[in-house]
This record gives sequence, structure tokens and C-alpha cells, in this order.
Amino acid sequence: MDLGELENTFLPLESRVKTGSDVIFSWYGRYQQAKALGEPAINGTVGSLLEDDGSLAVNRVVMETIRKQSDIDFSAYAPLPGLPEFKRLASELVIGPRLASLNDIGLHSNAVATPGGTGALYLSARSMLAVGDTILFRSRRWSPYDTLAKECGLPIAEWPILPKTDSPHPKVDLEALENELEMIAINQERILAWINDPAHNPTGLSLDSDGRELVLDAFINCATNHPEKGVTLFLDTAYAIYADEPYGWSETIHKKFSWADWPENFLICWGFSASKSHTIYGMRCGAIVFLHPSEDYVARLGEICAVTGRGTWSLAPRLPQSTLMAIHSDEELASSWSLEKVRLKEMLAIRRNLFNEKMSQSELPLMPSDDGYFAFIPCDDPVSIAERAAESHLYVVPLEGGVRIGLCSIGSNDIVRAAEILIESWHSLAD
Ligand SMILES: Cc1ncc(COP(=O)(O)O)c(C=O)c1O
Repeated sequence: MDLGELENTFLPLESRVKTGSDVIFSWYGRYQQAKALGEPAINGTVGSLLEDDGSLAVNRVVMETIRKQSDIDFSAYAPLPGLPEFKRLASELVIGPRLASLNDIGLHSNAVATPGGTGALYLSARSMLAVGDTILFRSRRWSPYDTLAKECGLPIAEWPILPKTDSPHPKVDLEALENELEMIAINQERILAWINDPAHNPTGLSLDSDGRELVLDAFINCATNHPEKGVTLFLDTAYAIYADEPYGWSETIHKKFSWADWPENFLICWGFSASKSHTIYGMRCGAIVFLHPSEDYVARLGEICAVTGRGTWSLAPRLPQSTLMAIHSDEELASSWSLEKVRLKEMLAIRRNLFNEKMSQSELPLMPSDDGYFAFIPCDDPVSIAERAAESHLYVVPLEGGVRIGLCSIGSNDIVRAAEILIESWHSLAD
């Protein structure tokens, strides 16, 4: 039998439709080959933060604390929902210093440990919607969002990441968001939307407080207008720690609900990811965090998500949970972690400022790139731009609708050259 016949014999259609050479890893492979051949190659491909010398940036405090964990924490299972202290810590890390004041105004949080922020996304897709329900995304997004939706049997609706016409805010297409929410509310029992903010992957875009308020109001209005529908806003804050307002959403939520009533059919979830904040990408540490006025309901959500986790990945690794607990329960360790985080954030800011400045002198339509790891140039033929840039030794990732530039992986000394190569590549194709 040839491969096709073998597939047809063994596999259902759901499996046969899966293809996947990951475009990011394949362009990273090209960069590595070029480097091995001695070329002066610049790496703008990976989604991990690299030091200026090209080595992986690791927060030393985290590495040292991992190595000091007990045999039990290395070896034993964690409880299904996660270590109890870790669950509280995950809420604190993702919601930030506003957690206490949100509790004071009657809101309750709960969390379930997951293998990374991806696990939190998965749990929300599995728990908040039924197979066949539509999930709402922005038009530009991290491509695993689509994979997760497919794995969970969820069709996708989208609203533009930037307004196409006049809008009350330059970064929020309010009318499109309201229309999409209304359409979904009319057609199905529940609503779930994911928003990756601040420091969006792949653009670096962050909403300001006015933008966040408009988005939050749209969800609250949807919940108020459809009291019989459950409306869940999931905030994917995977890169928040490297943004100027890491806890901006908590501020906006606190401001809103200090005086307004929280509609009972409205839920906010956060996806906590320790991959970037604690530079432990491969250890798979994260959590889904819920916020709602009913303590019983957030407890129940914890139970449901723990069961879904049990039936998917069993449970989340214990070692990174105990490591984060050790760091954040010790003032000195927490402060060393924070100092290193600030250093890494400043390194990104230097690269971004240089890149944005060079781009601003060109005609390239760079999307707003405010925070985090990436910048994005929308274009019709991203593969040609990436190929042309590679001829000049810059490796970036062609995605749907544009090229992603990993500011996180380009050393400060190479940033201006990288921008120049992109500008030259753009013009050579346009001319
Ligand atoms: C937008 C976005 N969300 C979530 C994640 C989750 O990462 P992890 O599962 O490693 O915590 C990532 C990682 O690259 C991401 O880019």
C-alpha cells in the first residue's frame, strides 16, 4: 500500500486532514543552516528571548531555584488542579496587585494548573463551548489558536485586529466586535472569545486603557442584552510581563466594577504562562484563572477543568509549580527575579525602539508594535519578502498576511541592519 492507502486504511478523516511542517521551525532551520555555513545570518525567527550574543535568555534565579527543589517536588504528582499555593500564586501573577481590591469588591478567583498557557486556552475551549460552537478571535493571531479550535471542533469567527473604517479607537474595531458578539449570541447558547493582549503575538500590539474599556464594555453589553447566554472573555496574557502595562486589564476591570454591577452571566478568564515570564518554556507551567462574583461557581469551574485536564494530559508538572512558589514566597528571590525580568524587558525595549525608528523613516506599513517579542509587516506576498530578506542573511517568518519579525531573537547590534534589509526587500519587490 502507498502512504495514501495506508492513511485511508488506518485513519479517520479528522486525522488525515492534519498536515504540519511548522513554518516557524522550518525558517529557524534555514537560519541555523546559514549560520553553520558561516554566513553572517541574523535570526528573526524564534519566539524565545535571546541575549544579544544569541544565547537563550534565562532568568538565573529561576534556574537556581529549580535545582534546589525537593525530591518530592521533582518526582511526585501534583494534585489534579495544581498545588493549592500555586493556584493562588498563578492568580496573583496574572491578575497582579489588583487581585486584593477585586476580591474586596466581591469578585472571586480560582485557578487550575495547566501545562503552559496553551493548556489554559485548551481548557477554556473544551469547557466553555460545545463541539460545533463558534469561537471568536481577532483576525491576526498566534497560529496555534486555529489548531486548538480545530482540535476542539470549534468553527472560528473573527473581528479585525485594527479598524478598517472609522472607529472610536485606533486599535479597536468596536462595530465589528459588537456585530460578531451579537451574531454569535443570536445563534448559540454561549460565547467565548480569546484576546491576546498586551504584547500581542505576532504584532507586538497592546491596547491602552481606553481600548480595553471599549472591548470590556462590548462584552458586558452583550452579557446584559442576552442574560440567558454565558459570555466568557479569555485574556491571553502570555507576554504581559514584558509590556508597559502588564496588569492593564485588571485595572480596567477594577475601574469598571467599582461602580457597575457585574452581570452574572459574564465570566473573565486569564491564561497564565510561566514560559516567558520565568523563562521556562519547556517545563510547561501555566494556569487558567477565573474571575466571577460567585465563589461556588469559580470552585465548580475548577473541578470541571481538572477533570478535562485529567482526561487530556493527566495533570500539570509539579516541579515548576513548587519552584514558582519558592521564588514568590521569598522576598529576596522575588526581587532578584524581578530585577532580571526588568533587564530583559529593557533589552527588548532597546531593540524595539531602534526597529520602530528605522521603520518609521520608511514607507513600510508596520503594524503598531508596542511591547513584547514581535513586530509584523502586513503584505500580500510574505514568502517573497522573507526569501528576499534571506538572500541578505536576515531570516524572518512568513505568516498568513505578512512577515513576523522576532525582535526577541535579534541582537541589538543587528536590529538596524535587519530593518534595512526588510526595507530593501520590500522595495526590490515593489519596484
Ligand atoms: C499568543 C500566545 N499565547 C499563549 C502562548 C502559550 O505558551 P505556553 O503554552 O508555552 O505557556 C504563547 C506561546 O508562544 C503565545 O505566543
